[in-house]
Order: sequence, then structure tokens, then C-alpha cells
Amino acid sequence: MIGLFDSGLGGLTVLRRVRERLPDVDVLFFADQAHVPYGGRAAGDLFALLQNNLAWLDERGVEAIVMACNTSCAIADLYGWPPTQAEVFDLLDSATIELQQRGARRIGVVATAATVRSGAYGRRIRNAIPESEVWEVAAPALVPLVEAGEIETVAARDAVARVCAELPPDLDAVVYGCTHYPVLESHFRAALGDRVELIDPAFVQAARLAEFLQLDEAPIGSGTTRYVTSGDPEHFRRSVAAIMEEQTPVVSGLGYASDVT
Ligand code: DGL
Repeated sequence: MIGLFDSGLGGLTVLRRVRERLPDVDVLFFADQAHVPYGGRAAGDLFALLQNNLAWLDERGVEAIVMACNTSCAIADLYGWPPTQAEVFDLLDSATIELQQRGARRIGVVATAATVRSGAYGRRIRNAIPESEVWEVAAPALVPLVEAGEIETVAARDAVARVCAELPPDLDAVVYGCTHYPVLESHFRAALGDRVELIDPAFVQAARLAEFLQLDEAPIGSGTTRYVTSGDPEHFRRSVAAIMEEQTPVVSGLGYASDVT
């Protein structure tokens, strides 16, 4: 079994890529919707949530944790990764690998305010691609829109357009630095035009997991997904059914013991 977590629905965009690659793997997906959005929170609180979420998955015996929250990865870049038994796959590494493969030089990153404040994306990309130029833009309006199911709306289109207007012209690539954003792809494409590459780190994230599991001896599983939310299970069930196109997703709530309110 593998584990994924995010603050909310965004992680499902990573799960979709994992499912394409690994239809038979058993998945435990945790959405920390009691604390969404993560992007406006202080770094110390985000680190406490990261520790809690990793420990919760680790205690359930997952063999790998596929990070589905960039904000948590950015915080780990500041504080270090809390120790886990499970192998952890970092979205920032996956984004950097893809940018290297594509030979991108002028790079935009759209992310949550906390991720941008951490400077983690800029540091990672410049380390891996020294000749790169990186522009990081915070998009605090987007996660609440996605969580509210406001996707094909004028409000979502305008919010994406405002964020993209802050990026310089002639970029080679723009990274979705938050897993909620790929569901707004049509708006990003409309705002940025056809020439810029839109980078969703979830593809490389899933490829790295597939490679790891092939190396692993453990049997692959029966393709079940168990969804757990610290928020409202009924609301989450409806979102999962829509985004994952599952008829009857198995969703449960969690009495989440957390110091962070
Ligand atoms: N989807 C998460 C990310 O990739 C967090 C978004 C949020 O809760 O602000 O950063």
C-alpha cells in the first residue's frame, strides 16, 4: 500500500497520475481538509501538520508516501524531512527533473503564498539548472475556488488570468507549484498561450513511484483506494466521485488529533 496526502482535493490530481501508471496498487489517500488552505498558514504550523500527516501514514504501514502537497514539500525544504519508515517522494524533485528533461531556462512557478515565501522552488531549480531564471508567483485565490468546485467559472478564469499577468513574457515553462492548479488547466492555457510548457510534477512523481515499486519485492495489490478526510466526509465523497469519476468512493472521516487549529 502507498500513501498520499494533501490539504484537500489537489492531491487527487496526483492520484490520477498514479492510477494511470499503477492501476493495481492499493492507496490510502489523506485529505487534511480541517486545515485547508495550507497556503496562508505560518511555516511552523505547516511543519507540525507535515509531521502529523507523515506519521499518520507511516503508522498505517505504507511502503511509500507520494507527496501530493507542494506546500508541505516546500516546508520540508526549510526544516528538513521528518524521519519515516516509508520512502518519501518529493514533488519539488519531480518538478525539477521534468524541467531538466525539457531543457527549460526561463521558468515561472505558480504556487501558494507559503510555498513562494519559502523560496524552495527557486532554490531547487537554480541548483539543478544553474543557468535558469526563475519567477515565483503566489496565487492565494485559486485553492479556495477549487475546493468550492468553482472550476469552469468566470471567477476562476479571471483569477488565473490575474496570476499569469504577473509572470514575465517568453517563458519556456510554467510549473503548477500547487496540486490544486491542474484542474484549472484550460484557464492557464488561455492566459499563457500555446508556446509555454505547462509542467505538472505529478507525471514524474508517478513515474518515480512506478520505478520504486518495480524494484520492490512487495506484491502490488488489488487497486483499492481508501479516502480519509479530516473535514466533512460527505462533501469529500461528492468531490472524489466527480474528480476521480468513481461511482462509490470509500470515504471516511478522521478524528484528527492535531495541535494546529
Ligand atoms: N495542494 C497543496 C499544494 O500543492 C496545498 C494547497 C493549499 O491548501 O493551500 O501546495
